[in-house]
Amino acid sequence: MGKWWQSAVFYQIYPRSFKDSDGDGVGDLRGIIEKLDYFNWLGVDALWLSPIFTSPMVDFGYDVSDYRDIDPLFGRLADFDELLKAAHGRGLKVILDLVPNHTSNMHPWFLESRSSRDNPKRDWYIWRDAKPDGSEPNNWLAYFGGAAWTWDELTGQYYMHNFAPEQPELNYFNPEVKAAMFDEIRFWLERGLDGFRIDTIDRLIKDPEFRNNPPSTSWKPGDNPSWKLARVYSEKGEGIHDLIAEMGDVFREFGDAVSVGEIDYSTDPHYIAAYVGTKERPEIDLPFNFAPIMLPWNAQVFRKFVDEYDGLLPGSGTNYVLGNHDQMRLASRFGEGFRTAAMLLLTLRGAAFIYQGEELGMTDGEVMPEQYRDPQGINLGLSRDPCRTPFHWTGDHNAGFTDGTPWLPIALNHATVNVEAERDDPFSTLTLYRRLLALRRAAPALNEGSYRSFDAGEDVFAYIRQGDDSAFAVLLNFSADAKQITLPANIKGNIRLTTLLDREGESVQNQVALRPYEGMIIGL
Ligand code: GLC
Ligand code: MG
Repeated sequence: MGKWWQSAVFYQIYPRSFKDSDGDGVGDLRGIIEKLDYFNWLGVDALWLSPIFTSPMVDFGYDVSDYRDIDPLFGRLADFDELLKAAHGRGLKVILDLVPNHTSNMHPWFLESRSSRDNPKRDWYIWRDAKPDGSEPNNWLAYFGGAAWTWDELTGQYYMHNFAPEQPELNYFNPEVKAAMFDEIRFWLERGLDGFRIDTIDRLIKDPEFRNNPPSTSWKPGDNPSWKLARVYSEKGEGIHDLIAEMGDVFREFGDAVSVGEIDYSTDPHYIAAYVGTKERPEIDLPFNFAPIMLPWNAQVFRKFVDEYDGLLPGSGTNYVLGNHDQMRLASRFGEGFRTAAMLLLTLRGAAFIYQGEELGMTDGEVMPEQYRDPQGINLGLSRDPCRTPFHWTGDHNAGFTDGTPWLPIALNHATVNVEAERDDPFSTLTLYRRLLALRRAAPALNEGSYRSFDAGEDVFAYIRQGDDSAFAVLLNFSADAKQITLPANIKGNIRLTTLLDREGESVQNQVALRPYEGMIIGL
């Protein structure tokens, strides 16, 4: 038997936008507690909550000022304990977001560190002298715009930050920092938490010599200006795998606790798989695989990637991600093909991550520049707010999300794209997700079974999931054209599910017709 997380479906809750219980326009823990039945009804295994710890909210919780408490906006520690207990009572695991790369500039550690050059915590952060001309120590740039260095008047040095100036980076060459962060992890795992999603885990170590980053060869207009320089020295420094392995050991003290790591958005299967570590030196359990977000929508490209990636991680570690709170929503990105992408996500081997609203077919919301809240949007125009607009419970005013004024506008299509409208509609996106999840749950072949792709023409990604006592073939038409497929002799059976939910039971043998973007699961 594998670990619980090996083929689990995780549902990412973005708490600010999930359900507001107190009318302040921001989602909260009591809102999540109210809605716990939804997750059982939907059929997911685990919940991942984006940051809920105490924070000035410059980067909406990715700037933590106390790793051991809940921000009052979301509730209290007692609410969290209640949520955890209630979720466990329903058979749901819960993981939280850990942000170890940086703290808020309001965290007591940083307040001490910046108080004087000889403060014992001075070296907990990355402080450097100015160049003789007063300029920044090197050319590193921040993701949210400007230099990765901010001048501190009081102590006459610069401190480093890859994100906002309010997110100073911790210095992991200092063993005290490591020990302190590891204790923050233990605090929650001892409380019964099932694991963490760990923010920007491959960025914790920087070049000890602080060398300049070289120019990038792939940057193009429209990209984040900070990518004009390749991030060779400002992150992923030597020793990062050792540090991650040590952090992973903290999770392993707790047996079943899962570590999910946010690493680079890479399409290189070797890069991703490397963060699982080796048998002798394991690192983290599930290094995020964002390739499905990055790869061009092309059946052969996906096939090649999955063949290689699946083969690299024959045991556990495989996982697939199609969206999160930083990326354009699935239905906006893929257009008509998004149901096919959903079928792909939930029929490949390993764990899968669903971002809230994906299961409704939510698109990016319409957020005007003057409504931007995301610092990356405010500074650079590259706003992540559109994928963070509130969840659609109903078609009513404010989508059943809040009785107050929502912190971000509600997407216009909430009138038709919402839980209430979709839950009993046999052809809705929500029904598709529910049926995919139910099938996956009932048929071990679809979560733990082996994966093998086969030829079905240029535009169709086709594979077999083989379990001990059942097997399925999955055919995904990536193109906008209908396709007539000739099947290998061993592929015959009955359709169990299609992306349009309308061909169940049809028998399939020799030849099958796929409509534009149609995906189907055949029980063999
Ligand atoms: C991660 C988070 C993102 C955040 C950044 C800084 O990429 O997903 O939302 O802004 O880290 O913590
Ligand atoms: Mg609220």
